[in-house]
Amino acid sequence: MKRIGVLTSGGDSPGMNAAIRAVVRKAIFHDVEVYGVRYGYAGLISNDIHKLEVGDVGDIIHRGGTMLYTARCEEFKTPEGQQTAVDNLKKCGIEGLVVVGGDGSFRGAEALTARGFPTIGVPGTIDNDVPGTDYTIGFDTALNTVINAIDKIRDTATSHERTYVIEVMGRDAGDLALWSGLADGAETILIPEQPHDIHEVVERLLRGHRRGKKHSIIIVAEGVGSGVDFGNKIQEETGLETRVTVLGHIQRGGSPTGFDRVLASRLAAKAVELLLAGEAGKMVGIVNNELVDQPIDAALKLKHEVDYTMYKLSQELSI
Ligand code: F6P
Repeated sequence: MKRIGVLTSGGDSPGMNAAIRAVVRKAIFHDVEVYGVRYGYAGLISNDIHKLEVGDVGDIIHRGGTMLYTARCEEFKTPEGQQTAVDNLKKCGIEGLVVVGGDGSFRGAEALTARGFPTIGVPGTIDNDVPGTDYTIGFDTALNTVINAIDKIRDTATSHERTYVIEVMGRDAGDLALWSGLADGAETILIPEQPHDIHEVVERLLRGHRRGKKHSIIIVAEGVGSGVDFGNKIQEETGLETRVTVLGHIQRGGSPTGFDRVLASRLAAKAVELLLAGEAGKMVGIVNNELVDQPIDAALKLKHEVDYTMYKLSQELSI
């Protein structure tokens, strides 16, 4: 293999730039040329493909976002879109592709491989919801962003003796909510994987209040429903003054943590190694701090699970 491509796809995540840098440098180290595809799969269809040199990925390891831009692309889900993508890659003389993104992006990588184009997936999403890896690139940074925000909210919650509902990202996965809630000593954590009983939440708040607790933090993952609706309900049912903060896209930005930079560098370099070894249709991951790889189709048949022992612990610690 003498020429490979790299793209980022789906929601961006801090550390994607570090991954792009590692793909480019690792490949060039092995005398392989690298082309960057802009705007994810949309750029494959529109042929937005450009050569990347060592210097093009200098000074990006510490930057959030992705220098290759990203997109969610409906056209790529069609057979015609996928064939155009493969044709464009071949026209550029590209023989293999690294895709950095979440599970939706991995389905695209699988589709390309099924059309005979070797593709390797690198898990990048703040949601941490890709099966086959303990961590995805960007999760740790987003977690620290959330923790930082909650620490600040806690100050004002204490001063005003209020209840705060904080909505964090996570459409299908509660990892961000669970980890940040545990790290911040939240009274209640609501995640999509675990059904909740509003009466129990209300009772827990009132019990704390009767015990002299003057403020409370409730973390709601967006997949559970609207934080605003939930906050209104809590205020109605408890009579406690309640405010809501929806953290939103602030969670997707910012300079990646050391953990995410190292993770991105390791995973992306491993993806290049796999391509150069003739592998295709695989994803890389990290399990128990070891780099692993497995077929994407096998990984996507698994379901990402939150750590239920952590959920139980959060409940035990927030009595
Ligand atoms: O998949 C990452 C994620 O940040 C989710 O947590 C969130 O639901 C979604 O992307 C938001 O997507 P968009 O930026 O397209 O609104």
